[in-house]
Amino acid sequence: MHKDVERILLNKEEIDVKIGEIGKQISEDYEGKSPIFVGVLKGCFIFMADLMRNVTCDCTMDFMAVSSYDGTSSTGAVKINKDLSQDVNGRHIILVEDILDSGITLNYLKNYLMVRQPASIKIATLLDKPARRQADIVADYSCFEVPDAFVVGYGLDYNETYRNLPYIGILKPEVYS
Ligand code: IMP
Ligand code: MG
Repeated sequence: MHKDVERILLNKEEIDVKIGEIGKQISEDYEGKSPIFVGVLKGCFIFMADLMRNVTCDCTMDFMAVSSYDGTSSTGAVKINKDLSQDVNGRHIILVEDILDSGITLNYLKNYLMVRQPASIKIATLLDKPARRQADIVADYSCFEVPDAFVVGYGLDYNETYRNLPYIGILKPEVYS
């Protein structure tokens, strides 16, 4: 275990099993619809790669990059740093995030993409931290609910570090205080 991690919340095996289940569910729900997975960079990258390999229906993918976070607390403002590279009019969008925290980012993105008149927009998130929700938004596909602690690994960072950890762990508070 990494020295900055207080304890492991979810190990690789648990994560693999759950992503397999969510992938199967999405495959059934979108059979014949060719959804487009829209990953929210950078945190989504490991989850999205694992999720898509568990989806059996035809699908495509794209990425958006946003910034809304500075350290461990949301600034409340969302900035689009990279937009989609294709038209999503009439498409079934599945927004893929690492964690749904305040919900400000996904709420903003959902409204932002709605203007382009997709056929539907759903949200798939690896983690859900409902204790800190501010925006009125729920995940359609969520792998795990996590307590109100700052977690890293499996794509999630603290100031760009720890994304490579193959598990989800609680970061020691002294690292960011
Ligand atoms: P929201 O807009 O508050 O829902 O924030 C979503 C973004 O905040 C996520 O995509 C993460 O990048 C970041 N975030 C929120 N909570 C955590 C955490 O516990 N660990 C790492 N990143 C987090
Ligand atoms: Mg982040």
